[in-house]
Amino acid sequence: MSQSIVLSRRALIGTGVSLVAARAIGAVPTSAQELGPFYPVIRPLEQDADLTRVKNGKGVASGQVIDVFGRVTDAAGRPVPQARLDIWQANALGRYDHPGDARDVPLDPNFQGSAIIVADADGNYRFRTIKPGAYPIPGDRVRPPHIHVDVTGRKERLTTQMYFAGDPLNEKDFIFAVANPKSSVLAKSVGAVTPEPGAVGWQWDIVLAVG
Ligand SMILES: [Fe+2]
Repeated sequence: MSQSIVLSRRALIGTGVSLVAARAIGAVPTSAQELGPFYPVIRPLEQDADLTRVKNGKGVASGQVIDVFGRVTDAAGRPVPQARLDIWQANALGRYDHPGDARDVPLDPNFQGSAIIVADADGNYRFRTIKPGAYPIPGDRVRPPHIHVDVTGRKERLTTQMYFAGDPLNEKDFIFAVANPKSSVLAKSVGAVTPEPGAVGWQWDIVLAVG
């Protein structure tokens, strides 16, 4: 399949069609992933794009501060303006702020845990959070660090999970295993992208099949 895409690009470049247009042909839709058991039933006091602080909180959430950003497009590479991202994740210790997560692992009073954000007119989104911890699940298995995202575009809703490229736990995970293609749910590290010390950027572009 990748070979046919390369050939298509070469053919298009030969006819003078721009590389941008050629790349758009290869915009593979982001794979769906299961909702999981911890979709928020209790929302924090705020749902803004900085999950490392909470309203009336006394500090910053524990863990590595990261900025996740990217662009929401359709399969033709066109932006999905004002796409809505409903985000939820575990804290740095792998604990969800959810009554169904009854493990003996502490909650973080400074961690927001979930957010609802809206992309701009060009489909660009960004949020600040902490890298979630891995957590055990029944059967002696471990879920790798991941962020749940429910994306609503103009015509389509996609429930998926974002993973961190290079994490050795990814390949052992039964949910990551069914992503098709796996590359569509992997964020790439792009180093420090903000002036805040210790913040690391992760880029993840989201492709909705029809937008
Ligand atoms: Fe999860």
